[in-house]
Amino acid sequence: MLALILSPLGLVAVIVLQHTGYVTGQDRFVEQTVPFSHKHHAGELGIDCRFCHVGVETDAKATVPTTEVCMTCHSQIWTNAAMLAPVRDSFASGQPLVWSRVNRLPDYVYFDHHVHVNNGVPCAACHGDLRAMPLTAQAKPMTMQWCLDCHRDPERRLVPQDRITSSRPYDPPIPPDELKRIHAHVLGLQRTRRLTDCSTCHR
Ligand code: HEC
Ligand code: HEC
Ligand code: HEC
Ligand code: HEC
Ligand code: HEC
Repeated sequence: MLALILSPLGLVAVIVLQHTGYVTGQDRFVEQTVPFSHKHHAGELGIDCRFCHVGVETDAKATVPTTEVCMTCHSQIWTNAAMLAPVRDSFASGQPLVWSRVNRLPDYVYFDHHVHVNNGVPCAACHGDLRAMPLTAQAKPMTMQWCLDCHRDPERRLVPQDRITSSRPYDPPIPPDELKRIHAHVLGLQRTRRLTDCSTCHR
C-alpha cells in the first residue's frame, strides 16, 4: 500500500479506491448462519419492518429480532427445514442467534435511528429496497460525506410519515400540503439544530 501511495499514479488509485465499494463496503453481502431473506419475509409475505426491528421508532438501535420472533411462525411453518435448524436450536437452548453485521459505523460515530425515522427520513434512503433483497446488502456508502450530503440539504429526502418503510418512498410525488409541512420542518431544523456540526455525530 505504501509503495502505491508513493507513486503519483498510485495516489490517484488510492483516492479512487477510497471512494469505491471495496473500501466503504457498499453492496457487500455477509454470510449468515441462517440465510434470512427480506425479499421473502418483508416483500412477498409483507411483514412490517417494525415487527422485527422493534427499536427503530423509539431508540438509537433498530435491533435485530430475537429467536422468539422467528418462532411465532416457525414453530408452525417449515418446522423440519434444515435451513431453520439453527433457529430451533437457539430456541431450545436459549442461546441467541448470532447475526453478522451488515452496516456498521466506527464506535466514534454517534447515530440514532428514531430521530431519523420519526422525522420523515425513510429506511430506503439509507438501506435501499430491502424487499428486493434475498440476502441483505449494505446499500449506501455510510461515509461521513454521505451523512453530510443529506444533513446539508435534507428537504428533498424527507417523506410523509406513512411512507417511512415504503420500498419507493419518493414515488408517487409528495402532495403539496405535505411538501409545505416538510419545508416548514426543515426551516425549523436550520434555526434550531446544527446538523453539520462535528459534535452532532462525534460526541
Ligand atoms: C421477519 C423479520 C424481519 C422483517 C419483517 C424485516 N427484517 Fe430486517 N432483518 C431481519 C434479520 C433476522 C436481520 C439480520 C440478518 C440479515 O442481515 O439479513 C435483518 C437485518 C436488517 C438490516 C441489516 C442490519 C445490519 O446488520 O446492518 C437492515 C438494514 C434491515 N434488516 C432493514 C429492514 C427493513 C427496512 C425492513 C422492512 C422493509 C425489514 N428489515 C424487515 C429480520 C427482519
Ligand atoms: C410472520 C411469519 C414469519 C416470521 C415471523 C418469520 N418467518 Fe421465516 N418464513 C415464513 C414463511 C411463510 C416461510 C416460507 C415457506 C415457503 O416458502 O412456503 C418462511 C421461510 C423461511 C426460510 C426458508 C427460506 C426462505 O426464505 O424461503 C428461512 C431460512 C426463514 N424463514 C427464516 C426466518 C427467520 C430467521 C426468522 C426470524 C428472524 C423468520 N423466518 C421469521 C414465515 C415467517
Ligand atoms: C439516516 C439513515 C438511516 C435510516 C433512515 C435508517 N437506518 Fe438503519 N442503520 C443506519 C446506520 C448508519 C446503521 C449502522 C449503525 C451503527 O453501526 O451504529 C444502521 C443499522 C441498522 C440495523 C442494524 C441494527 C442496529 O440498530 O444497528 C437495522 C436492523 C436497521 N438499521 C434497520 C432500519 C430500519 C427498519 C429502518 C426504517 C424503519 C432504518 N434502519 C432506517 C442508517 C439508517
Ligand atoms: C437521507 C438523509 C439523512 C442521512 C443519510 C443521514 N441523516 Fe442524520 N439526520 C437527518 C435529518 C433530517 C435529521 C434531523 C431530524 C429532525 O430532528 O427532524 C438528522 C438528525 C441526525 C442526528 C440528531 C441531531 C440532533 O442533535 O438533533 C444525528 C446524531 C444524525 N442525524 C447522525 C447521522 C449520521 C451519523 C449519519 C450517517 C451515518 C446520518 N445522520 C445520515 C437526515 C439524514
Ligand atoms: C452527520 C454526521 C457527521 C458529522 C456532522 C461529522 N462527521 Fe466525521 N464522521 C462521520 C462518519 C459516519 C464517519 C465514519 C465514516 C467515514 O470515515 O467516512 C466519520 C469519520 C470522521 C473521521 C475519521 C476519518 C477517517 O478517515 O478515518 C474524522 C477525523 C472526522 N469524522 C472528523 C469530523 C470533523 C472534524 C467534523 C466537523 C467538521 C465531522 N467529522 C463531522 C460522521 C460525521
